[in-house]
Amino acid sequence: MTAPDRIALVTGANRGVGRATALRLAEDGTDVIITYRSHPDEADAVVDAVAGLGRTAFALPLDLSDLSAFGTFTGDVRRVLRDGWERDTFDFLVNNAGVGARAPFAETTVEDFDQLMNVNFRGVYFLTQKLLPLIADGGRIINVSSGLTRTIVGDTSAYASVKGAVEILTRCLAKELGPRGITANTVAPGAVATDLGGGRFRDDAAERARVVAQTALGRVGRPEDIGGVIASLLSEHTGWINAQTIEASGGTPM
Ligand SMILES: NC(=O)c1ccc[n+]([C@@H]2O[C@H](COP(=O)([O-])OP(=O)(O)OC[C@H]3O[C@@H](n4cnc5c(N)ncnc54)[C@H](OP(=O)(O)O)[C@@H]3O)[C@@H](O)[C@H]2O)c1
Repeated sequence: MTAPDRIALVTGANRGVGRATALRLAEDGTDVIITYRSHPDEADAVVDAVAGLGRTAFALPLDLSDLSAFGTFTGDVRRVLRDGWERDTFDFLVNNAGVGARAPFAETTVEDFDQLMNVNFRGVYFLTQKLLPLIADGGRIINVSSGLTRTIVGDTSAYASVKGAVEILTRCLAKELGPRGITANTVAPGAVATDLGGGRFRDDAAERARVVAQTALGRVGRPEDIGGVIASLLSEHTGWINAQTIEASGGTPM
């Protein structure tokens, strides 16, 4: 018997961790709706790559800092579910999109704090609330946090605190959505070589050397490392994992 099609919605999937997650899911046989904020060309390339893997993808614009657009976005999701799959629900929500910012506690500005809070937490909170009726019973939610909630390094008080809120939200969602058979887990990446934070873990040799020295597996993470972990938490074998934070860092300070 053929397994039914599974559909994942992955935010911020035009590049970085989200892109790698969408492609891994497609390789594993899952269709995807991806979101982008400002790079439609990159999003189109991901849609094409997913098609090349034999799966279906749609790309939709989404700005997590603009709550007023969430109604329109939800309508767009309903439309592509109907047009693409003749469904009114999807199975997996991956709240991946996010921004980074570093500053010493004493120098963190209200503007930086608000951007981190609005995109990385408030947006995740109310987007998930808005999409709740569209998530199928028995579905799964993955929220992307950061290893910085466990391992404290300097200059990340606002970013790490906001990601900590995401982890608490995950556990609350697991509790409240359990009756619908929906699980919620957090994936907390260590340093990954992406554009985040000005590409510091990809392009800054000193920063990379610091991470390599502190990582048991002796290298900086790749987007594919995290995409693989997220996809595995959405596989048919991991449905009993719930309300957990899974750190994926290659073993950084333990
Ligand atoms: N890289 C790391 O070292 C690392 C470590 C721990 C956790 N993380 C977390 O992993 C997740 C993915 O990060 P990444 O490294 O892949 O970053 P990235 O390469 O910078 O990609 C960020 C993604 O988020 C989207 N995005 C940014 N602001 C947005 C907004 N206001 N509304 C909607 N989408 C927005 C971007 O869309 P556009 O391209 O269209 O702007 C992009 O698709 C984030 O939650 C991040 O905090 C990353």
